Amino acid sequence: MKKIAVVGSINIDQTITSERIPLKGETLPGRNLRYIPGGKGANQAVAMAKLGAQVEMFGCVGDDENGRKMIENLANNNVETHNIKIVSDIPTGIAIITVGENDNTIIVLEGANGQVTRAYIDSIKDTLFTYDMVVLQHEIPLDTVHYIVELCAEHNIPTLLNPAPAAEVPMETIEKVTYLTPNEHEAVLIFGKDRSTEDLLKAYPEKLIITQGSRGVSVGLANGEVLNVPARKAEVVDTTGAGDTLNGAFCVKIIEGSSIAEALEYANAAASLSIGKFGAQSGMPTAEELAKALEETK
Ligand code: RIB
Repeated sequence: MKKIAVVGSINIDQTITSERIPLKGETLPGRNLRYIPGGKGANQAVAMAKLGAQVEMFGCVGDDENGRKMIENLANNNVETHNIKIVSDIPTGIAIITVGENDNTIIVLEGANGQVTRAYIDSIKDTLFTYDMVVLQHEIPLDTVHYIVELCAEHNIPTLLNPAPAAEVPMETIEKVTYLTPNEHEAVLIFGKDRSTEDLLKAYPEKLIITQGSRGVSVGLANGEVLNVPARKAEVVDTTGAGDTLNGAFCVKIIEGSSIAEALEYANAAASLSIGKFGAQSGMPTAEELAKALEETK
């Protein structure tokens, strides 16, 4: 069975629900304060494992209760964790999330995720090179992300970079990465606002995948066409982690040998199911749940 590695963030999410997201300077009453597993890296690893993939998580947590709980959660979801580094004197990453009106705001305290350095990568790279695909996001130092893309390209290991949260991506990294999956805002930051989405997708066929929220997800195909997979109708409880589910599910299908179109169809359906439950990880579907949902819409 092919194996996928995620090198990324591991956070505990402190979530609070309100009738809507507060405006600047506004105070609103909240309800349901929760502490639940999160972090874009960990979320993507869990999304893939729930869909039956063999996954290892690489990253750092603090030597604290949150860190231990987050590792335990990954392990409970069948994600391999033994190369996660526990660092002293720096807390596990925390995300402060407000959920309201079908949307959210997130502030991330980097914590131990900042220790995912080139030195850490050098310490695990021999293991990393045994993987069939490496998945990255922007919640660890960007220098490390670009370093991993370069190393993987040298070793012919396909990579997916989900450039979230938004930050610039060097042209060299764009060239070397196999899949780049920004949302529309991230795409503007990376490529500038002068180029249309269609133009960009045609310029990077089968590499650039742009997610467009309720309008679905688009990719340029090798034959020059642009494929849009429309979003599926779904009951929205919490959109946190929908992008992570989409990225994870996409990798699971790609690694199995599916076409980009098939993988995006599957990923889109997985993301739509994930928003039906509260929290980044709890709504992520299993392979059986997703197969059933796809069958029902046929
Ligand atoms: O993508 C959702 C994730 O972003 C949350 O789980 C939170 O930890 C932040 O990293």
